[in-house]
Amino acid sequence: MSLKYGAFWLNEDDNLEVIDQRYLPFIKRIVTISNTDETVKAIQNMTVRGAGVIGNVAAFGVYLACREVDGNLELLKTEAQMIRASRPTAVNLMWAVDRMLKVALTCKDNERTKILKKEAILISDEDLLRSQSIAKFGADAFIKIMQERDLKSLNILTHCNAGWLAIAGYGSALAPIYELHRRGVDVHVWVDETRPRNQGANLTAYELSQSGIKHTVIADNTGGYLMQQGLVDVCITGADRVSRRGDVANKIGTYLKALAAKANNIAFYVALPASTFDFDIVDGTREIEIEIRSEDEVKRIRGLDDEGKLIEIQIVPHESPALNYGFDVTPAELISGLITENGICEATQNAIEKMFL
Ligand code: MRU
Repeated sequence: MSLKYGAFWLNEDDNLEVIDQRYLPFIKRIVTISNTDETVKAIQNMTVRGAGVIGNVAAFGVYLACREVDGNLELLKTEAQMIRASRPTAVNLMWAVDRMLKVALTCKDNERTKILKKEAILISDEDLLRSQSIAKFGADAFIKIMQERDLKSLNILTHCNAGWLAIAGYGSALAPIYELHRRGVDVHVWVDETRPRNQGANLTAYELSQSGIKHTVIADNTGGYLMQQGLVDVCITGADRVSRRGDVANKIGTYLKALAAKANNIAFYVALPASTFDFDIVDGTREIEIEIRSEDEVKRIRGLDDEGKLIEIQIVPHESPALNYGFDVTPAELISGLITENGICEATQNAIEKMFL
């Protein structure tokens, strides 16, 4: 396996190496994962994050667990369950673990580890291809918007990070943006900082600056005003779980942007691979489990001091409580279209079932 997935790779000892996303863009730190405990820890503490990459790391985690238990199926099931439960909202995690276990059931004990390694690589290779298709379908749709409105450049607003750090390949929401840039289209991206963990300010801004794509980081509350002033042509985000009728769980704050887009008649697209659908859930606003993370993520903030040292400081009175929902759910009716590897699908139960089931 090579560096083609960007955020993770197998090293020569067949252990997984990942970019530690907690320290980007300031420090490039690599973490090695060689067993179940390290896999669970890396997902929980967000060394790795983003629905797709969580799924990829979980798949490799199941392979590493199998190696750890010497191919014993019963022990492997217990280990896989621990990986499956490491974060609750992004369904790619459960999807990837279930797929790995399904394969595990079909092989002999002495071949299981080797076969699971292959399957984990296959999942990542498939994600890469899915991301390429999302890039193409999304870029085509955005160029159509530009032609219809006679736009010379396109201002795109995005929330959180849904690029190559979040999904193998070019990502999901950022994939069409990379493709537009590759095709020579003049794009500019409004990057929501995405408090409390700042995946926009830290990761999306990092990705876009590495690729030389024009962008501006904005405070999370700025998007509505920009839309009202005609400074946003289209919005696009990724997704962590999408219900059968098209409700989208994504990073907290996505819902507010979708409401503002609707009020200002601006298209709001969500990009995702089919592995992000949860066909067992219909009403996403009621049925999707939303992760609640530590209040410290709201009360404290990390950044560089004037000496260039990475520090963390408190920004809320010690005695004030804080609440930290990781995700929210945008109802399907606020979504203009779901950009997937199969094409652009209306966010309705009918259209989703027709395209994917
Ligand atoms: O908490 P995170 O950083 O894992 O959340 C990530 C997001 O919400 C992304 O927007 C989402 O995973 C879509 S991209 C795969």
